[in-house]
Amino acid sequence: MSRLLVLFISICWSFSVVAGQAAVAMPDSYSAKAAAKVLEEGGNAVDASITAGFVLAVTLPEAGNLGGGGFMLFYQNNKTDFLDYREKAPQKAHRDMYLDDKGEVQTEKPLYGILASGVPGSVMGLWQAHQKYGSLPWERLVQPAIELAENGFIPHKKLQAYVQEYLDEIEAAPHGRNFAKYFAALTGGQRFKQPELAATLTRIAKQGPKDFYEGETADKLVSFMQHHGGLISKEDLKQYQAQWRTPLQKSWRSYEVVSAPPPSSGGLVLLQMLAMLSDKIDCLEDVAHNSTRYVHLLAELAKPAFADRAEYMGDPDFYPVPVQKLLDDAYLAERAKLINPIKISETEAIKPGLQESENTTHYSVVDKWGNAVATTTTLNLSFGSGMVVEGAGFLLNDEMDDFSAKPGVPNYFGAVGKDANAIAPGKRMLSSMTPTLLIKNGQVQMVTGSPGGTTIISSVYQSILNRVLFNMDAQSLVDAPRVHHQLLPKNTIRHHPKLDKTVQDGLVKMGYTLDARRFGDLQVIVRDADGALAAASESSGRGLSMVVETK
Ligand code: GLY
Repeated sequence: MSRLLVLFISICWSFSVVAGQAAVAMPDSYSAKAAAKVLEEGGNAVDASITAGFVLAVTLPEAGNLGGGGFMLFYQNNKTDFLDYREKAPQKAHRDMYLDDKGEVQTEKPLYGILASGVPGSVMGLWQAHQKYGSLPWERLVQPAIELAENGFIPHKKLQAYVQEYLDEIEAAPHGRNFAKYFAALTGGQRFKQPELAATLTRIAKQGPKDFYEGETADKLVSFMQHHGGLISKEDLKQYQAQWRTPLQKSWRSYEVVSAPPPSSGGLVLLQMLAMLSDKIDCLEDVAHNSTRYVHLLAELAKPAFADRAEYMGDPDFYPVPVQKLLDDAYLAERAKLINPIKISETEAIKPGLQESENTTHYSVVDKWGNAVATTTTLNLSFGSGMVVEGAGFLLNDEMDDFSAKPGVPNYFGAVGKDANAIAPGKRMLSSMTPTLLIKNGQVQMVTGSPGGTTIISSVYQSILNRVLFNMDAQSLVDAPRVHHQLLPKNTIRHHPKLDKTVQDGLVKMGYTLDARRFGDLQVIVRDADGALAAASESSGRGLSMVVETK
């Protein structure tokens, strides 16, 4: 093919879009419809994402939130950007705050009840995103959430069941959680109204973050903390700021993969695994998708990356995360040599390589101009700490469990850490949230992300492999069974229950222990070769994705 022809094809590719087309991939129908309406009214991807964020705080109580935090990855006016609105440890937090007299971790404390929460970042994050990139008025973007809280919404059967499960869990082990007082009524299937939350959202619509961090909502949160013996103070709220950061970016095959920087571990682990896979790509020849050999190879690729995660990753404002070294091609080529494509390599032999978090939610938006936003937001576990701020009607996070409470002791997700992720006042806990974009010739080709603690990284990774290596369409790539290995627990592979039984048997024969469980739901938008957008939400969840034809 002549050079001219190649140039012509690549120019056509880079400008190939369907005029007026936008898309949303959302974890529920309320957020999808509200975000689509914003796009139809001429709002951009950031506007639609802000509306989705607030709606999810009403209709997706297990993860959507005002009392949590998140990450937003942008492609706006042909530039990438990243907003970190992760929670922070309160000033009164300290390194050993979850240890008992014998120095053992009291594992329930960072997970449930009043001591589990970091200082929330979501309201500040959505505000700062709007200040920099929003185009429609802030009040307009918050309004759909106010209406859903005030007038109520009909809870999906899956949400009713989820809440009932959580209520049963609280009954067995209360840990001081007041969740039932606010959410027990949701299980009846009737229209569910949240008047206190509606009032909080109305104040936020009028006053922005001033209300949440210094005004009436701040007062309610602080008196709730004081009443129950919690740590978050007026000063903690007043000082909270979201942080603009440079996203991570690495070329992989014909794409630029753009993802979350620290305090997420997600982008680093993802880019490491993609790069090591490129070094081992010959091992994949003749290997079928989700076969025993394929799953084994993915597990091997995860090992060195998760060893580095445990040693080097934490809040870059507190710990010098060696990002460049961890993404260096020569370093990763060396690390790829640890991978044994035939049999399980020794867990103990995989050390960090340098010399010297179960619910969350994700949503993806692309607007008609080709801008994109990938947002992952979290309370940590489903329904966070189980504590609802009385008088303000929103759930608080249990993000403190994403810190390493003691070196080498696993958190809820089985992740271990050391100094890099030790608790310190004002520090952000390490995350696995991995909002990610694939860009080619200046055009977003894929927006991907998922909930699921440390499995987020595997979900995002495999969504990319499914698309780029296996050419799957949007729905197939989100529904394909996924697998996850994270070095520890040793030789353990978590997998979707639907992973082929003969593959499961093959893995057991190789020496793996299997753990069959659901993962979080991917919410993905892709651009097909003809420039048309396609969007998909995983079928097992209650998500809704739409391609929106705007004027
Ligand atoms: N709380 C889950 C995460 O941030 O990884």
